[in-house]
Amino acid sequence: MNFRKEFETHLTNFSDNYPDIKREFEKSEMHNPTMNLTYWYTHIYMLIKLGVEEWPKDTSILDLGTQMGVVPHYLKEIGFTDVSASNSKKEAGDTLEDLELVWSCMDLNVQHLHIKPEEEFTLDKKYDIILGTHTNIHWNMRKMLKIYNSKILTDNYYVRDKHNNSHTYFVPYNTSELKFFIENIKKYLTPTGKALINFHPFPYWEDRFKEELDLLKEHCEVGHCDSDDILFQHSYIIIEGDK
Ligand SMILES: C[S@@+](CC[C@H](N)C(=O)[O-])C[C@H]1O[C@@H](n2cnc3c(N)ncnc32)[C@H](O)[C@@H]1O
Repeated sequence: MNFRKEFETHLTNFSDNYPDIKREFEKSEMHNPTMNLTYWYTHIYMLIKLGVEEWPKDTSILDLGTQMGVVPHYLKEIGFTDVSASNSKKEAGDTLEDLELVWSCMDLNVQHLHIKPEEEFTLDKKYDIILGTHTNIHWNMRKMLKIYNSKILTDNYYVRDKHNNSHTYFVPYNTSELKFFIENIKKYLTPTGKALINFHPFPYWEDRFKEELDLLKEHCEVGHCDSDDILFQHSYIIIEGDK
């Protein structure tokens, strides 16, 4: 199996092969996934890194934070029989209805899960593979303060400047929040299971997050996609199940 080639072909021919799903995508301006292959290069790299070409077809897989469900849909299409997905209702906001239409068109079972820093979360079972690509799970928005009209508000904070460029502010998980998250994920991995979490962006290469990077390196494999000079965009951790 040449996963890269076959996934690229699937994406290239998506509109022709899945017109119903494509129609649902188009309804969601915010979530309409890019079929531009470059967006998917890192996903392909990470899946191959996890050994997708050798996984038995009954491998239990969870796509944590799936949004438009492109990856789990494809994995099901190529014969994986135990594929689930989760998504955060809070993050989806008022686009949830659009997402639900897409998931039902894909026949995808999506659990609602919003992970909070240092709050235990539960999954329905243990998985062999947990994927968290392009995820902003590690944004601790509770510590982000916004002052508006002389009041302090805590919320996601996006702003557009006069040139229409967007600016996003967030506070990344600190060491104890990262440790808690890693331990919590481990509870839902089979003994040989692996979770790849592609924190996006990955701030921990910066000197001021050295403690966090050391913690990650102590408990996980920390890596980034090949020939990648934008490390903060395409870095990941791999958490292994307890043997
Ligand atoms: C940019 S989307 C990535 C979608 C897809 N995984 C991909 O690779 O294109 C980020 C995802 O992270 C999920 N997410 C963000 N914060 C989360 C949180 N605190 N708990 C659970 N999921 C979260 C969102 O629901 C969303 O599906």
